[in-house]
Amino acid sequence: MQITYNENRKTFKIDTENSSYVMIVRKGGHLQHMYYGAYVGDDDLEYMFSDVINESFTPWPPCAEDSHFALDTQPQEYPCNGTGDYRISAFSLEMPCGNSATSLKYVSHEIFSGKKKLSGLPATYVEDEADAVTLEIKMRDELACADVILSYSVIKGYDAIMRHTRVLNSGKAPFFIEKAYSCCVDFNEKDYDIIHFYGTWAAERQMERKPVIQGISEIASKRGSSSHNHNPFIVLCDHMATEDFGSVYGFALCYSGNFSAKVEVDTFDQTRVIMGINPEDFKWKLSPGEEFTSPEAIMVYSSNGIGGMSRQYHKIIRKHICRGKYRDIRRPILINNWEATYFEFTTEKLYAIADAAAPLGIEMLVLDDGWFATRNDDKTSIGDWIVNENKLQGGLKALSDKLTSLNMKLGLWFEPEIVSFDSDLYRAHPDWVLHVEGRDRSIGRYTAVLDLSRKEVEDYVFEAVSKILRSADISYVKWDFNRNLTEVGSKALPCDQQKEVFHRYVLGVYSLAERLTSTFPDILFEGCSGGGGRFDCGMFYYFPQIWTSDDTDAFERCKIQYGSSVGYPASVMSAHVSASPNHQTFREMPFKTRGDVATSGAFGYELDLSIISEEEKEMVKAQVERYKELYDTIVNGDNYRLIDPFTNNRWCAWEYVSEDKSQAVLTYVVTRFKVKGRYHIKLKGLDPDATYREKVSGRCYKGNTLMNVGINLGNDLHEAHSDIVVFDKV
Ligand code: DGJ
Repeated sequence: MQITYNENRKTFKIDTENSSYVMIVRKGGHLQHMYYGAYVGDDDLEYMFSDVINESFTPWPPCAEDSHFALDTQPQEYPCNGTGDYRISAFSLEMPCGNSATSLKYVSHEIFSGKKKLSGLPATYVEDEADAVTLEIKMRDELACADVILSYSVIKGYDAIMRHTRVLNSGKAPFFIEKAYSCCVDFNEKDYDIIHFYGTWAAERQMERKPVIQGISEIASKRGSSSHNHNPFIVLCDHMATEDFGSVYGFALCYSGNFSAKVEVDTFDQTRVIMGINPEDFKWKLSPGEEFTSPEAIMVYSSNGIGGMSRQYHKIIRKHICRGKYRDIRRPILINNWEATYFEFTTEKLYAIADAAAPLGIEMLVLDDGWFATRNDDKTSIGDWIVNENKLQGGLKALSDKLTSLNMKLGLWFEPEIVSFDSDLYRAHPDWVLHVEGRDRSIGRYTAVLDLSRKEVEDYVFEAVSKILRSADISYVKWDFNRNLTEVGSKALPCDQQKEVFHRYVLGVYSLAERLTSTFPDILFEGCSGGGGRFDCGMFYYFPQIWTSDDTDAFERCKIQYGSSVGYPASVMSAHVSASPNHQTFREMPFKTRGDVATSGAFGYELDLSIISEEEKEMVKAQVERYKELYDTIVNGDNYRLIDPFTNNRWCAWEYVSEDKSQAVLTYVVTRFKVKGRYHIKLKGLDPDATYREKVSGRCYKGNTLMNVGINLGNDLHEAHSDIVVFDKV
């Protein structure tokens, strides 16, 4: 890991363990991109700039002697709008005169150890300054009096570059930031595929791969949250790249609101990628002396295929984004009452579930929606965080005492950002929600969204939630968020700042999450947004696990968890065993298969344990025991995807290998019966010379045999058959 500046050539070179990133300051202070990819030595790369001549239609800046320096035809580092580069731009300002032609020129730079915090925003961190190096390049738009700091950090041991932008108004008049993307990379070629993750409620992060095309493609959200529909994570890779081979670039945004990732292939077959806050419905007034910080983008390069990239992200997220005591210790195995009871629970019912769960080794009961005010359906009461003692006799205290007597912990559901129209809170403060004066307020699950851009609203929610958390022995919070934003306006802001509300809302959510998680450091916070509707690196900074999806059908979960694993580790994916037939898909599924699939995540149950059969109880006991045993390998190990459920319509498989390669955990699921199918598979990531014993049969194999010959799982496996096969080094 190092960052260097070559004074003669005016080049910056960022080296990670196996990758290099090179930029150059050229004529007139234009900062140009030179290279990003596998590690290269210190050669002068300026020969790569091609002088495409297209005189009339690619105007050049006056600093160039001739037309051979058109910004439009050459790679740029942080391209601006309106001054000669017609491709997608990363940055644009509206000056007091109303014009948006923007131009940034190099001023100075600084290289230092460590990594700064991003003001009000989640980002990667290091615990020891010596583990990171940062480069800050100061650029300036002279006319607008805007200083723009481009920040690049690397962390020891990773092939990742963390980027963000800061904008400072050093003039005497306000200007407006129209866009400030977090990163931009120009590639010399167009021979890439893009992989992205789309979906909907109950079907998040479905993986799609397609070649990039001439023109612009965009993966984005303008729903106010990162969303079920698209994820702020994309991959650019060689057409030939596989899980194990080929050049792969990942782009993940540490942000939970409106985002945009654009890919443009220009007429010269060059590819540009930009990622950051979505400029649609965004405009930020920056007054003299004020600073704006963009979210952090995490770029990963892998020459070892898509799997190599994923394993980098997994470690970065686990060790440099997730925080708090649950980053390092095993999370409790829980039973959540939602699908067992929905709103119709009584104290007796909860006690019965807890009584059934405790002897099975389950460590926590999570009381989901419906414990407060008069909430007996989804039409009322969110925001009125007062225990409904008619439903919960003795309140939370009695429940937590009961759980303590069973050696179990209590977890509780909240939806802190939301208010029901039918609630005392809304009746008292109808202007505390996002709204536009005079316009109808759209309804989402009978609720509105609290205006968390306002400090007094944030303070109110902080106090209300804290009061409940202090009232009983609560060890876990499920923080849900069940609607997207509409009529995004704030009563507290003037007209020329209304387009700041989307981003200010996200900053408010982060501030509230920071206050609650730091005030209650012993509580494990789980994120949720109708399942995985806000499943992003921003959220993982506060919540080390997120409810991956409301869809717990094992076949659907194979896809959802497999797609999610391209960017995110098993440690952040909450996964529960639910009832059969499944409540979302109505599909019947063996208990074992449900358990095998849920084991690849933050494990728990979501069904009425008090009514399952004795045989099923024995299975729960065994699954819980097995999860505890395999936890370290699954949650902290290296993940290898083996058979892809998106392209294989017969079965799927994945594997975790412990960091020291002493254990491998293989999971496979047959998703469609095939007459006379053969099921054999090759493992990955093992110590080739070591001997591994398969736990059940006791049979021993060499690591290189398992990886090159594979193992035989049998013929004619029936649909929905699954297993977890464990190999221990002997
Ligand atoms: C949506 C979540 O994803 C569910 O798990 C559950 O908590 C419901 N909300 C409760 O309203």
